Amino acid sequence: MSFLPRNIIKIDVPPIKCQGIKTKLVKFISQNIQWTGEGKWIEPFLGSGVVAFNIRPERALLADTNKHIISFYRGIQCGDINKHTVRQVLEVMGAQLSKGGVDYYYEIRKRFNESASPFDFLFLNRSCFNGLMRFNGKGKFNVPFGHKPQRFSKAYITKIVNQVNAIAEIIKGRDWEFVVSDWEETLTLAQFGDFVYLDPPYIGRHADYFNTWDNDDAIKLSEVAAALPCEYALSMWLENQYRRNTHVDEHWQDTKLVTFDHFYHIGSTESLRNSITEALLLKIPMGSKVEAV
Ligand SMILES: C[S@@+](CC[C@H](N)C(=O)[O-])C[C@H]1O[C@@H](n2cnc3c(N)ncnc32)[C@H](O)[C@@H]1O
Repeated sequence: MSFLPRNIIKIDVPPIKCQGIKTKLVKFISQNIQWTGEGKWIEPFLGSGVVAFNIRPERALLADTNKHIISFYRGIQCGDINKHTVRQVLEVMGAQLSKGGVDYYYEIRKRFNESASPFDFLFLNRSCFNGLMRFNGKGKFNVPFGHKPQRFSKAYITKIVNQVNAIAEIIKGRDWEFVVSDWEETLTLAQFGDFVYLDPPYIGRHADYFNTWDNDDAIKLSEVAAALPCEYALSMWLENQYRRNTHVDEHWQDTKLVTFDHFYHIGSTESLRNSITEALLLKIPMGSKVEAV
């Protein structure tokens, strides 16, 4: 029996944004994974959670080293963060932002760095520069203001409220655990019948307090993945017009490679488009022929 692929018609976009968010790849990932759904879905690099939220397994272990992400989703899970509380908080904070502008943003950033409220986290994530999630070496959120004091319009608040509510509905009744954990620790819990989805940070990019990832980490992950007692899939960029990610060729040879091309704009016009090829590397089921990457 195959639980996946789920026929995803509409992607549920999470309320929290982060670098490397896989919104555009969820359908591709879902279509290429085969799993009975009997064990647990394990995601050691949860990020925004968009993959798990759309795959919707019955049981899941969802982990990240970023405690703010985990505490936000735990808040939704226990009901403290819901469509009413989010609307209330964002209406008040949005009005204060339109009056106080940049000063109010930095006041909230300071408050968040002292008390780590998940509501402040949401406010900052949705009003900071480019929706970035970045922390300094001491773990303090350090993204500047996004320069839009009128950011929290009625429509924008409703959009966020609906996103929170959709995620709350998805989590409800499912056996999901959100934990702060390093990937290696998380993977020690994987068992036969589980499925592990891996989406580590890009090597040498987006480095910050919760996100240090270098070549050695990437190689170790490939070794630990190869020894997993269950199926797994890993997302990684493969190539663009300038270079290829040789790490894929060097360390994931024993996996099945499927690719997906997508475009991003490098300028204001349609013609200024570049494509990037994303890889999904899948464990080859025991007994089947190994295809070279
Ligand atoms: C590329 S993002 C995942 C994006 C996610 N799949 C999505 O679609 O939003 C990588 C995530 O790994 C987390 N991370 C970085 N180093 C980690 C580590 N050593 N253990 C666990 N998580 C880590 C980061 O905090 C970040 O949320």
